[in-house]
Amino acid sequence: MQDLEFENRLLITKKPQKKSRQKFDPFSFFMSDVQFKKHRVFRETEDVIFYDISVDESNASDLVVHTGAAISPPDDLVGAKQFYIHQYQDDYNRVVSGERQFELVNFGWKYPYHIVHLNVHSGALIIPKNTYHRSQSGESGSIVINQAKRYEGFEPKEEFIPVSAAEVPELYKVLLHEKPVIHTLGE
Ligand SMILES: [Fe+2]
Repeated sequence: MQDLEFENRLLITKKPQKKSRQKFDPFSFFMSDVQFKKHRVFRETEDVIFYDISVDESNASDLVVHTGAAISPPDDLVGAKQFYIHQYQDDYNRVVSGERQFELVNFGWKYPYHIVHLNVHSGALIIPKNTYHRSQSGESGSIVINQAKRYEGFEPKEEFIPVSAAEVPELYKVLLHEKPVIHTLGE
């Protein structure tokens, strides 16, 4: 009986919070533009999990290993953030070991600036072409498989040239003035 009363009290205190959040937080109404390709667990035996990580769109796979708390691409010589941006590739970045934080900027998105925390449970983070992106590993590094989709015209030499935020005024402005949408683990 006491438990029930406690539970009711919790419900009563929760309700107004929810209402006021809906009223004052327009963010909660909109979907973000960041998407994930989830895996599917198709078999489990003792201490063994089988994941189906198929990405139908993918026509290339890259394995990217950070052996420590690497930042990729690293800051430029004066400390400004650098990013990769692909013209002919969508990334599908799936952490298979460790943790990785991605920073994404896409001028075409409703909210252009996102910070996404990834681990093995997150699924593959989809980074469409023309999205500025950089990533940083946790202290013990991380392993990512990028089940990429490459388009005709893809040239590895052209697709991995770091771009400094100091050289792209629009990018710099977003980093400076936009509040990032944070995606924490488990979302
Ligand atoms: Fe990339």
